Formats: sequence, structure tokens, C-alpha cells
Amino acid sequence: MTNHTSTEPPASRGTLIVFEGGDGSGKSTQAERLAARIDAVFTREPGGTRIGDLIRSLVLDPDHVELADRTEALLMAAARAQHVDELIEPTLRAGRHVVSDRYVASSLAYQGVGRGLGVDVVADLNRFATAGVTPDLTVFLDADPMAARGRLGSDLDRIENAGAALGEQVVDTYRMLAAADPVGWVVVDANGSIDEVGERIDAVLSDRLGL
Ligand code: TYD
Repeated sequence: MTNHTSTEPPASRGTLIVFEGGDGSGKSTQAERLAARIDAVFTREPGGTRIGDLIRSLVLDPDHVELADRTEALLMAAARAQHVDELIEPTLRAGRHVVSDRYVASSLAYQGVGRGLGVDVVADLNRFATAGVTPDLTVFLDADPMAARGRLGSDLDRIENAGAALGEQVVDTYRMLAAADPVGWVVVDANGSIDEVGERIDAVLSDRLGL
């Protein structure tokens, strides 16, 4: 016996799918494509909410050269906390899927390894920020970092400005995280046309999540 007074059956929880990859891997295009296909709410980090977008402009502005690495990590986590509370958790609870362009693993890769703050400390910070909301599947789009950098163009944000070394560390970290958690992660070859990569992603989603 339950105490439900409503006659509505409880909606089954939505699925959280996260796309990760280095800058220029094509992940934003693929995340949006998938979201449209499965009728999910598409969102991105840092951002996804009004507060998050304000934090995004603060943290990515190339003029903010004095921004300390710990400040950067805290701002990313703050934007994420707002994102979880305001958008991700309510959407999942209402039974809709969410596709996010980046999530916690971006902070592990860019701040934890790239900025040298340490993966464990950044993971702890993000457990607080997310209140334990974890992805059902993280899709890592694995592209050659040098080729991806070539696709970035010249209008770089503050983090992209940090250069090729950071880009390589980021990609190595994703490969390591994916290898350590083969159930939660899937690695997709990001080399090829948008349609070719998209078809690989569709096959994975059908196989792993039945979507
Ligand atoms: P964005 O323009 O969204 O780049 P991309 O198209 O590559 O996703 O900028 C996001 C930048 O912020 C990107 O350089 C990665 C960085 N970032 C972090 O350093 N830590 C984080 O936790 C997140 C979410 C992003």
C-alpha cells in the first residue's frame, strides 16, 4: 500500500546523457543532434540557466587574465549546482531526457588535470555541486587534439587560450576516465563527417540505453 492520493502514475525518471570531448571535437553539434532525435532537453555547461550564463561569461572572458585556477574550479561548480537544481533534476524527475554538452568530467579534465588542482579534490567539490546527480551515460567524442584545434578558428575563449598542452591533457584524462568506467562511459571515434559520427552515436545509444 502507498499513500499516493493522485491517480496519475508516477512518471519514470528521464535519462541524463552527457557529451564530453576536447575543444573542437564536434561534440556540441552531435549533442544537439541527439537531443532533437530523442526529444530531450538540450543544455550546455558552463551555462544552461540565467545564473549559469552569467558565470559562463565571467569565466570564459579572455580579459579575465587574473582569474585564479581555484576560482575557475569553484565557478564551474557553482554554475553546475544551479544547472542541476534549476534544470537537470526537475527535468529528469518530470520524466524527460536531458542531453548536456559537458558536465562534471569537464571539470575533472580541465581543472583537475589541466590546471593541476587534482582530480580527487575537484571530484569532491562536484559531489557537493551536483548533490549526487550523475549521468546515465557519458559519450566521449575522441578526436585527434591537433586536428580539433585546427577547427577552432582564431576567436578563442580564456580556457582555449591556455593552449595545445592543456588540450592534450584534457583528451588523455577523458580516455582514462572512460577506461576506468566502461559502463558509465562510451568512447566514440569523432573523426569523419557529422553524419558518420552521428550514426555511431545512434548505434551506441540504441545498444546501451535502448534510445
Ligand atoms: P565552449 O564554448 O562551450 O566550448 P566547447 O564548444 O569546446 O564546449 O566553452 C566551454 C569551455 O569551458 C571549454 O574550453 C571547456 C571549459 N570548461 C572547463 O574548463 N570546465 C568545466 O567544468 C566546463 C563545463 C567547461
